[in-house]
Amino acid sequence: AGIVEFDLATVKPGEVKVIEWRKKPVFILHRTPEMKEDCTKRTIKTSSGEYTVVIGICTHLGCIPNWEPENNIWHCPCHGGKYNACGINIFGPPPKPLYIPPFKLEGTKIVLG
Ligand code: FES
Repeated sequence: AGIVEFDLATVKPGEVKVIEWRKKPVFILHRTPEMKEDCTKRTIKTSSGEYTVVIGICTHLGCIPNWEPENNIWHCPCHGGKYNACGINIFGPPPKPLYIPPFKLEGTKIVLG
């Protein structure tokens, strides 16, 4: 129960898709070379590219941040917290990066749960 499969190859470069896992939003960003953060420790790499996969719940008080494509950040509407393209908190009250859900990779497919 609670297992979700998703093919990362369906996310275009620069695009964010939101899927649901255990009633939580999970953000899937297909990163591009313009996103210059060092995301080494937070990268899911497949033959189709490099991805940030994070639980889309602000680590401050639990709102759902929005992706801002013009700035390549997630911006929390509640108290202005910001997260970079790795999901790391870079501004405002969030105390921690966005959480990475437990996952396995099968080719370009991610299996959550
Ligand atoms: Fe996101 Fe407060 S809940 S900044």
